[in-house]
Amino acid sequence: MPTQITFNDVTKKYGDTTVIDGLSLDIKEGELFTLLGPSGCGKTTLLRMIAGFHSVDGGEISFNEQVINEIPVNKRDIGMVFQSYAIFPHMTVKDNVKYGLNARKLPKDEKSRRLEEILETVQITQYQDRLPARLSGGQQQRVALARAIVIHPKVLLMDEPLSNLDAKLRIDMRRAINEIQKKIGITTVYVTHDQEEALAISDRIAVMNHGEIQQVGSPTDIYLRPANQFVATFIGHSNLFSGKVSHQGGKTLITLVDGFTFEMTNLKSEAKDGVAVTVAVRPEEFIISESEEGIDGMVTFRNFLGKYIHYEIQLPDGSKVELSQDTNTSKHFFEVNQTVKLQLLVNKINVFTEDGEHSLIEGVVKYE
Ligand SMILES: Nc1ncnc2c1ncn2[C@@H]1O[C@H](COP(=O)(O)OP(=O)(O)OP(=O)(O)O)[C@@H](O)[C@H]1O
Ligand SMILES: [Mg+2]
Repeated sequence: MPTQITFNDVTKKYGDTTVIDGLSLDIKEGELFTLLGPSGCGKTTLLRMIAGFHSVDGGEISFNEQVINEIPVNKRDIGMVFQSYAIFPHMTVKDNVKYGLNARKLPKDEKSRRLEEILETVQITQYQDRLPARLSGGQQQRVALARAIVIHPKVLLMDEPLSNLDAKLRIDMRRAINEIQKKIGITTVYVTHDQEEALAISDRIAVMNHGEIQQVGSPTDIYLRPANQFVATFIGHSNLFSGKVSHQGGKTLITLVDGFTFEMTNLKSEAKDGVAVTVAVRPEEFIISESEEGIDGMVTFRNFLGKYIHYEIQLPDGSKVELSQDTNTSKHFFEVNQTVKLQLLVNKINVFTEDGEHSLIEGVVKYE
């Protein structure tokens, strides 16, 4: 039966320091759920609590209806893959993968069937008689993955499993992990601090900072509709502006500090007249032109990347924004030192309370 993992008001302390304080979270059955956040935010701590290597100092963690707080590590039925491959160097690939199975009371032919199936799934059948030293990093990580899932655990935990691999292999392995996880349908908690990896691999992501969950949502929601300023700036780049809301003739307007005003049609009702806001604009959410209207700017740097041109634009107050122009759909390209006008794609941009704590866009919530 697929497993749902529930954190109910969970607390973790290291000595006197509380690193997780009353965290609640539902991880759905069969999903690939990613914990994403900067170094030290508590990702590994949560993972190790699920595994049972760390005590739960308050609240409860459950697998389906069963509270697991007091269940010892070896009774939790978990598969694990870590950054270091942790496979036995003196055993062949096949024996490494079989290792977990040997501890299980299963008929011999069931063991062989599973072994064959998993070697095939992670595509290491042809290396089954080799020693790990004669495998590439990606192949070794596939062995570790096979060994973790051959036992058909309730839950698969992965802590930065790709960070020791080179860039190209990381991308191949992302896809492999995704396909294998979907095929087996095992509830998976994946830890990374690589935002692109998280966006590429996950069904849902929890963005964390300082032991707290900032947002839980699909990769699309997290990127397009961040719940607060932290998420908007941690995932991808967002240029930030200060602005003020006004209501005129039935319209909701935002005026930026330099006076540029635009209409918004999707703000929450709490965005009342006179409220100060923080406006977050991604590099691809500007329109750059020579028109009359818009935010004044001057090109200070330009980087042609084929599909896109990245510009750095200096504003009259001296601040700089990053802008990316799609070369396919743009008629004009701009040069360094050229003065330009910037318009905003108002349906795409995000607006937060002045302190950046939460989104003022209709329908955007912290927990999906
Ligand atoms: N055994 C420990 N004793 C004391 N403090 C710890 C211990 N393990 C972790 N911490 C602290 O708890 C916080 C969370 O650590 P954790 O390892 O969960 O972070 P992380 O998000 O996995 O970071 P990274 O991306 O660097 O792996 C950090 O401030 C860390 O210093
Ligand atoms: Mg960690």
